[in-house]
Amino acid sequence: MYRDTPHPVHRKDYQPPEFLIDRVDLRFDLDPELTKVEATLALRRNPAATRGGGDLRLHGEQLDLEWVAINGAALTPAEYAVDQESLTLHRVPDHFTLETRVRIHPSLNTALEGLYQSGDMLCTQCEAEGFRRITYFLDRPDVMARYSTTLVADKAKFPVLLSNGNPVETGDLDRGRHLARWEDPFPKPSYLFALIAGNLTAVEDRFVTASGREVALKIYVEPHNLDKCDHAMRSLKKAMRWDEERFGREYDLDIFMIVAVSHFNMGAMENKGLNVFNDKFVLARPDTATDVDFDGIESVIAHEYFHNWTGNRITCRDWFQLSLKEGFTVYRDQEFSADVGSRGVKRISDVRLLRAHQFPEDEGPMAHPVRPDSYIEINNFYTATVYQKGAEVVRMQAKLLGPELFRKATDLYFERHDGEAVTTDDFVRCMEDASGRDLEQFRRWYQQAGTPELSVREAFDADSGHYSLTFRQHTPPTPDQPLKAPFHIPLAVGLLGPHGDDLPLRLDGDAEAGTAGTRVLELTDSEQRFTFVGLATRPAPSLLRGFPAPVKLRFDYSDDDLLFLMANDSDGFNRWDAAQTLMQRLLLALVEDPRAAAPDRFFDAFRQALLDPASDKALLAEVLTLPSEAYLGDQMRVVDVDGIHRAHSALGRRIGERLRDALLEVYRLNDSAEPYVFTPEAVGQRALKNLALGYLMKADEAAALNACQSQFAAGGNMTDVIAALRYLVDHRTVEGARALEDFYARWSGEPLVLDKWFSVQATSLREDTLERVIALMGHADFSLRNPNRVRSLVGAFCNANQVRFHARDGRGYRFLADRVLELDPLNPQIASRLLRSMLRWRRFDPERQTLMRAQIARILSAAELSADVFEVASKALDDEGAKARGVS
Ligand code: TRP
Ligand code: ZN
Repeated sequence: MYRDTPHPVHRKDYQPPEFLIDRVDLRFDLDPELTKVEATLALRRNPAATRGGGDLRLHGEQLDLEWVAINGAALTPAEYAVDQESLTLHRVPDHFTLETRVRIHPSLNTALEGLYQSGDMLCTQCEAEGFRRITYFLDRPDVMARYSTTLVADKAKFPVLLSNGNPVETGDLDRGRHLARWEDPFPKPSYLFALIAGNLTAVEDRFVTASGREVALKIYVEPHNLDKCDHAMRSLKKAMRWDEERFGREYDLDIFMIVAVSHFNMGAMENKGLNVFNDKFVLARPDTATDVDFDGIESVIAHEYFHNWTGNRITCRDWFQLSLKEGFTVYRDQEFSADVGSRGVKRISDVRLLRAHQFPEDEGPMAHPVRPDSYIEINNFYTATVYQKGAEVVRMQAKLLGPELFRKATDLYFERHDGEAVTTDDFVRCMEDASGRDLEQFRRWYQQAGTPELSVREAFDADSGHYSLTFRQHTPPTPDQPLKAPFHIPLAVGLLGPHGDDLPLRLDGDAEAGTAGTRVLELTDSEQRFTFVGLATRPAPSLLRGFPAPVKLRFDYSDDDLLFLMANDSDGFNRWDAAQTLMQRLLLALVEDPRAAAPDRFFDAFRQALLDPASDKALLAEVLTLPSEAYLGDQMRVVDVDGIHRAHSALGRRIGERLRDALLEVYRLNDSAEPYVFTPEAVGQRALKNLALGYLMKADEAAALNACQSQFAAGGNMTDVIAALRYLVDHRTVEGARALEDFYARWSGEPLVLDKWFSVQATSLREDTLERVIALMGHADFSLRNPNRVRSLVGAFCNANQVRFHARDGRGYRFLADRVLELDPLNPQIASRLLRSMLRWRRFDPERQTLMRAQIARILSAAELSADVFEVASKALDDEGAKARGVS
């Protein structure tokens, strides 16, 4: 907590560490109320340091120092100084052993950073700067050391004691205590340290690596969750094999462990050999978890596993380089999911996420480059920009190099930098060195914030058969970056002939006739023209196939073009995108004029797509899903909260009415009685069926109500149950209330399922949702101390319910500010994330702006604020940033 304004850290101020730590020996005497930590560090002056004095300052927060010694001799008070954030040792030798003993208090740790208690277990979370809450250390990623960890605890309460690396010793001690010692042979930064103590059981399996080494796999959970680990284990083995095949990366220890914990700030953490997971990304059974959950588990398990090479073996020099590991690892997990599932559907959901979260971030007061230049609190920079846009930046390089050279470049990266802490620049240099390409201009993707807008003009000349596309790129200003230089943008373009076929793509000046399909063009100037030759008629341009770059496309397609692309484009992504653009147009027209009617041919195209027996069902479900209310808001200069909601409901209802028969048919055909399987086909079938049911429920169709109720009652799998529950709650007061009661009675003992019960109510479109949410805050099962529960109720209401959160009376805003102020002293990371729902207050009408601004100002005037909340609130109100972007 800060009384004074916390200070920003700047990338340009980076200095190598003055000391290095070669070895760390830790001994924990574990107890929830009072844990003692003894650390022995082997330190030496860094030959590469550019400065250095006689003093050494170690990071440490919330530690009670009991004892400190250098080379075996206890220090006198004159030889060191302790403050809130550090331990300074005066006049240290160039080479020495430091011993410290501190006391910490896990049960009081509600921030879930450092060593904390979750239920009956003890666990750690050290990224980014949590290790300093465990012991005094150089808690920065460019200090890599070898660790050995001894854990001592009561054997009855904590029979399982885990840490990084390999187990080397166990034994019983006096007073019912026991001990376990772990050695990690790989040097690592402190943020990858982890320990776990608890009464856990493991699901065990094994994996034989490509070179024939056997690895023991263990997933540790609380005993009652043993029956929910199968999917996680399957996902892990798939990920391990995939990384060998696609990237030539093998696992490197004899044991790989995953532990599921109930209290966790984020999704999961890649600690060396001991990944710690939020329950939500491990535990699944068909009756407790939805297809979205199964999907999330598969990709998060893969993500954390992939970090073993991209993050752990090669780590970040400093936290400005976070995207070095996160962007690359997200790219890797996205490619993995595309390979083991459906590539087309995966791309659509990734782009949907990018547009829903990263584009708005890039437009708002917290916009920052993929490699930020400064931060106040690093925890605020685990963002969609660093993760999702960072992955797009890696994907563009893969595209520019092509598969063979990209693989050569990643091989070079792994070989050149193994065991090092490096920068995003080092990564790009490997791309350059392996391919011989110059990526100097490309580096701007790491340096400049903001989403480029790509305007395209076409011209067709029937006489010459020339068709030209002129691309203009423009990137709006962002805080501290008023002017932007042009980006190096890969484009992937196709041209469709009158029958929907891909035409040969021959550019003016090409020596050879072009081949039909997709062509990668490279845009480097602010304006550039490409002329295609040999065209008899004007083609329909299919621009940005597969979404080759994180840009906003501005092209004046006619409705006919869009319908044509939606029906014919060989690129599945662009078929989806054409449909989305079309629906967005219809919806925005309805916002302008509630009496505007959707044209018949829209419904015809929709019907045709629905009844096409050849279609991929998952893709079809994506194509026929309306853009969300929030996304529509992003497309308007001033978000018309109520107009959007009215239009969205009206079009949904209209679709249900006009296409009733087709939707009922689709529902019937896809309502399978087969037992649950998690395959792309089965997932697609359920998605399509539930989409159809949703439209029918909006239209208040009697047959749909029956289907909904029996689907809910049958309880075959959670995907179907939760879809039915949501529709009942939204559209039927009495039946919805009864279903909620039944659901609670059935699932109150399963926290992850109960989270869904809270979420369904928090995201309900009913007018009384805020009252309901306030009442649920008082429910016996609600707790501000469990992040999953906070996200499922408060987060869901503020982030996923635009019309009710932004109610014009401003009560949603007051509710959010109250929660932020209540949460901040408990868990600043969660408080700060919640507050971000109000970051883009300037996008709304003046009345709402005033209301939001007042709540943010109220937060800022609180007597004590964490650096996390302070940074978000102050940047939200930063008028400098706003002026630079030309908004009031
Ligand atoms: N490195 C983790 C991941 O992507 C992110 C993470 C987990 C994290 N827990 C955290 C980041 C706590 C900050 C704070 O995979
Ligand atoms: Zn990660």
